[in-house]
Amino acid sequence: MDLGLSGRVALMTGGARGIGLAHARALGREGAVVILNDLDAQAAGQAVDRLRAEGIQADFHVGDATDPQVVEHTVTDVLSGHGRLDILVNNAGIGVKPAARVEEMPFEAWQRMLHVHLDSTFLWSRAVVAPMRRNGFGRIINTSSMNFTGGGRPGVAHYSAAKAGIVGLTRTMAKEVGTYGITVNAIAPGYVATELIAQFSADMMERLQTQNPVGRLCLPEEVAALAAFLCSGHAGFINGELICMDGGRRDFYWG
Ligand SMILES: NC(=O)c1ccc[n+]([C@@H]2O[C@H](COP(=O)([O-])OP(=O)(O)OC[C@H]3O[C@@H](n4cnc5c(N)ncnc54)[C@H](O)[C@@H]3O)[C@@H](O)[C@H]2O)c1
Repeated sequence: MDLGLSGRVALMTGGARGIGLAHARALGREGAVVILNDLDAQAAGQAVDRLRAEGIQADFHVGDATDPQVVEHTVTDVLSGHGRLDILVNNAGIGVKPAARVEEMPFEAWQRMLHVHLDSTFLWSRAVVAPMRRNGFGRIINTSSMNFTGGGRPGVAHYSAAKAGIVGLTRTMAKEVGTYGITVNAIAPGYVATELIAQFSADMMERLQTQNPVGRLCLPEEVAALAAFLCSGHAGFINGELICMDGGRRDFYWG
């Protein structure tokens, strides 16, 4: 199936590695120009070199995805360099180490988690509406988590709350911008094989796989393939949706 992404310009936050890089590769292979935002300049530069070597038109903008000035400058640069911005993938995120139960969680840890995941999703989404509306086309893909559906394990309330907030933002915004030709959807992956979960013990990794109905971790490419379809012209009537991609698991079994 031709996804019709040739000539589209796509921006992904946290694009230097993991799921974000998989998004860039999947959209780039379908013909989109991909712009990677990331905090990590070296990783972003290396990622762009690899993508270009694969024949993908790629560039990067280094900066903190939670910084309103970074958001504004990046969107302005993309528009002046490419004349359009069709696809936004809100992907940047951090892990939950150290985990802490609510009664022991420092307020700073709570705020940082919501800032990185929820505030950044709001800031980038707000910034792209006007240029997408001008073109009568836009696709915003937000990154929730299986933790939204089941609450995750004890100690990750900040992460679960941030990922739940992203679903609320997705569903309301979808109603606001649908008539402009813009869709807003969220993907809720289960555990995905990236550096984000590399901190887990071997025992935990084993359990994550054996407890999953499919018997393994999700691959970043699988998340990216779903997002690429949602970004296509075929998906114009999928709006405000949360698509779980967790192998059927729905939650962390911690007993
Ligand atoms: N890996 C999983 O099991 C899993 C499951 C569900 C959801 N997710 C979500 O998927 C997204 C990507 O996760 P991943 O597994 O690829 O993680 P990862 O750690 O492999 O990659 C995250 C990338 O985001 C970048 N980043 C972090 N904070 C940033 C900031 N403030 N500004 C710009 N860039 C920043 C990092 O430098 C890194 O390149 C996250 O939102 C995560 O919560 C991951």
